[in-house]
Amino acid sequence: MMLHTTDSVRQLWNAFWTRKGHTIIPSASVLPADDPSALFHNSGMHPLVPYLNGAPHPTGSVRLANAQKCIRTIDLEEVGDATHLTFFEMLGNWSLGDYFKQEQIPWCYAFLTQELQLDPQRLAFSVFAGNDAAPRDEESAQLWRAQGVSQARIAYLGEDDNWWAKGDTGLCGPDTEMFYWKDSTTPAPENFQQTHDDDRWVEVWNSVFMTFNREEDRRLTPLAKKNIDTGAGLERLVAVLNGKTSVYETDAFSGILTQLARTCGREDLLQAVTAETDDHYSLRILADHTRTAAVLVADGVTPSNTAQGYILRRILRRASRHGRKLGLTEPFIARILPAVSEKLGPVYPDISEQLEHLQTVVDKEERLFLQTLERGEKEFLKRLPELQGVVDGPTAFHLYETYGYPLELTQEMAAEHGLSVDTAGFAMAEEAHRELSRTASVGQFSGGLADNDPETIKLHTTTHLLQEGLRQVLGPHVQQTGQHITPERTRFDFTHNEKLTPEEIAAVETWVNDAIAAACPITMEEMPLEQAYAQGALGWFRDKYGAVVRVYFMGPWSTEICGGPHLSNTAQVGGRFRIAKEESSGAGKRRIKGVIVLEES
Ligand code: ALA
Repeated sequence: MMLHTTDSVRQLWNAFWTRKGHTIIPSASVLPADDPSALFHNSGMHPLVPYLNGAPHPTGSVRLANAQKCIRTIDLEEVGDATHLTFFEMLGNWSLGDYFKQEQIPWCYAFLTQELQLDPQRLAFSVFAGNDAAPRDEESAQLWRAQGVSQARIAYLGEDDNWWAKGDTGLCGPDTEMFYWKDSTTPAPENFQQTHDDDRWVEVWNSVFMTFNREEDRRLTPLAKKNIDTGAGLERLVAVLNGKTSVYETDAFSGILTQLARTCGREDLLQAVTAETDDHYSLRILADHTRTAAVLVADGVTPSNTAQGYILRRILRRASRHGRKLGLTEPFIARILPAVSEKLGPVYPDISEQLEHLQTVVDKEERLFLQTLERGEKEFLKRLPELQGVVDGPTAFHLYETYGYPLELTQEMAAEHGLSVDTAGFAMAEEAHRELSRTASVGQFSGGLADNDPETIKLHTTTHLLQEGLRQVLGPHVQQTGQHITPERTRFDFTHNEKLTPEEIAAVETWVNDAIAAACPITMEEMPLEQAYAQGALGWFRDKYGAVVRVYFMGPWSTEICGGPHLSNTAQVGGRFRIAKEESSGAGKRRIKGVIVLEES
C-alpha cells in the first residue's frame, strides 16, 4: 500500500475536486461567525450553512471543497483512545443546489478506489432504509451497484445511521456512508447488512444528500435546490490508508509526539504509541490538547471562564496535569507548539505566523495553573489517609474553594488512587458555603470556577428534567447512577436495560423541551429527608444526605433532592435540549450525553 500523509491526502482531495469544477475555499476559523448555537465549527458544512440555505457563495461558485478545522469537545473524556480528537480536519465537498447523487456517488467511488487506491474488496456502503417521513434511498444503492459494488456490500440502515440533520429544524436528508475493512488479517465479510456493527468496518466518509427542510411542525418540505454535503475525517482516513488503527500513528501526530516524549525524557513511550498504559494515554491526550490549544489561540481564543475561553482553559489544565503525570513539573506546552506549527502551519498559516503569541498565551496560563495544582495536590495527598474510598463533599469543596482545584480534576486525581468523589456532597457543600457567604451571587462566588459556570447551571436544571423525562417515557425504574456536567454538555447515567429507540429519544427530548417551553418557576425548600421523600422527591443517595435536605421543585415537571444551584425558571435554559449521544454505560445502565442548542434565528 502506498504511504499517505495528511498533506498528500489533502492535496489529492483538493486536486480531485478541482478537476471536477470545484473551488477550493480556505478553512474558516473554528469560531462560528454568526451561529450562537455552537461554540465551535464541528464540521465542514457548518460555516457554509447560509449558502446551503440558498445565499450565493462569495466565490460565485456552486461547487466547493476544502479541509476545515473542526473542534468537538463533547467526548473530552474519551480523547486518547484510537479515534476521538478534540481538533481534527474534515475534508468536504459541496454542491450548492448544483449536482446531486448521480454525480456524487461515482465521484466518491473514484476518489476512494483510484485516488486513494483503496481495495474495492474492502469497501462497503450504507444507504437510508426509509421511514414514514422519507423513502428508502434505492437510488443511491443503484448508483453504488453501477460502480460495480455488490448488493451484499450495501446495507440499508435507519434514521440513527443514515439520516443527517443540521438541527431540530432546517436542512436534513438521507446520507450514504462509506466504510473500509481495516483488518488486513481477515477478508472483509461479504454481507455488510449483517456485519456493519463490527468495528473493523471503519466509516471513512459520509455523503449527505440535503433533500428537505424540516419545518417547526416536523413536516419535511423538499428543498427547491438540493445540496450535497460531505465529510471525511482526515486523520482517521490517513490512519486507515496506512493500515493503522489509531490516529496517533499518523504523520499528523508523529512530530508532536516525538517532541513531547523528548521533553519529558520518555522516548520509550514512542515504541508503542497506541499502548493502553496510563502514561501512553497521557502522552496522547497531551498531543491532542496541544494541537487544539494551538488552533484555538490562533483563531483568537484566550483562556477565560466562559464559553470558548473556558474550553481552552480546561484543555490546557488537563494537558498540564497529564504533563505532571509524565514528570513535567515546569511549564512545557509552549515548547511543544513549534511541532504543531511545523505540521499545521503550512496549511493554516495563522498558527505559524503567531507562534510566539501562542506560546506566550499558553505559557502564562500554564504557570497560573501549575501553582494551583501543586498546592491542591499536596493538600489532597495530605488528606488521603483519612479518606475511605470516597473524597467526601466537604474535602472536594475545600480543594475547589481554597486551591481552585476543579471538581473534574479532583475526580481524575481521586480515580488514580481508587477513590470516587461524592459529587452530590460537593454540590451541597458548595451551596452551604454560598448561603454562609451572604454576598454570594453566582457570579461573585464562582470566582470563575467551572461548576458555577452559567452554562453548567442551565445543564444542571436540564438534567433534572431529563431524569424525569426518562422516567415518563421509559418507566419509573429509571434511576440516576451518575452524572457529570460541564458547560458544554450533561452526561447522565441511569438504570435501563435496552438501547433507547429513536422514538424514545425523540419523546424524551420533546418532554424536556415542553418543560422548558412551559417557563415553569423553580423553587427550593429545605426539609427533613423523610418529608422530601414523602413529597415524592427523587433522590438516590439516601446514605449520603444529611437529616435536612434541599428539594428543588419545578412545578409538575420535576421534584428532586439536590444541592443546586439551579435556574429560577425552566425557560432560562434558553434553548432546546438535544440528546447528542446514547450508549451503554455498563450492565443494565445507559448513558446519555445531552446538549442545549440555541434556537436558530
Ligand atoms: N456534515 C456531515 C457530517 O458531519 C457531512 O458528517
